[in-house]
Amino acid sequence: MLAKLLIAFLLLQAKQPSKAVADFQEWRSHQPANADYFDVTAHYREHLKQAGLTDEQIRSAFQEIEATRWDRIYSAPNPTFNTVPNAFLMEIANGRKPGRALDIGVGQGRNSIFLAKTGWDVTGFDISEQALKVTQQSAQTAGVKVTTVKASMQEYDFGTAKWDLIVATYEGADWHEKAIRGLKPGGIVVIEGFYRAPGTPPGARKCFPRPPGPARLRA
Ligand SMILES: C[S@@+](CC[C@H](N)C(=O)[O-])C[C@H]1O[C@@H](n2cnc3c(N)ncnc32)[C@H](O)[C@@H]1O
Repeated sequence: MLAKLLIAFLLLQAKQPSKAVADFQEWRSHQPANADYFDVTAHYREHLKQAGLTDEQIRSAFQEIEATRWDRIYSAPNPTFNTVPNAFLMEIANGRKPGRALDIGVGQGRNSIFLAKTGWDVTGFDISEQALKVTQQSAQTAGVKVTTVKASMQEYDFGTAKWDLIVATYEGADWHEKAIRGLKPGGIVVIEGFYRAPGTPPGARKCFPRPPGPARLRA
């Protein structure tokens, strides 16, 4: 009886969203149902600011909200996020001498596993528990090793002159300074993501061409 009660309690705990997530869900339920997620989160960020939360409190709330969202996506029977390695990364890595690679927001591991298969020593981190689980399962199936770490890009220690390659596909931008420090001389960063052209109407978030000219991170 006691064991049953304990199991019921644990199941209940497991299903309860954290306060940050519950608050967001409640707030979101009052927003237009078809509102774009990126606009909704931008408004919610503003809402939390107005409510007097500090930047750190807002960051922490969003970390929980995002981790929950991605856990749900990766737990779905047919996860909707692409599982094929990123084409731009494949193009850039092709012919490059493998070394140490860091995958920011490893997701389901599509890029880490591709790199590991081609000889790279890969570490990937993510805030989503489920992301790391799926990555490890896929790495095992592929017969390769990928080191995974549960951490956010704000928390993760990129080290100094440690990585030959840093990958950030469809990640935020809260890691640039650390990546510059973490790159070995001659190392490269591969970035692919959404670009919102100035004047883009709210709700439009298709992949825009990146700004003309080479993008370069300056140390
Ligand atoms: C759009 S998916 C991209 C996944 C992977 N980079 C790829 O291209 O397949 C975004 C990933 O970033 C993770 N993420 C979101 N916020 C993060 C943060 N602050 N730090 C680290 N990972 C984060 C999510 O959990 C999710 O797995």
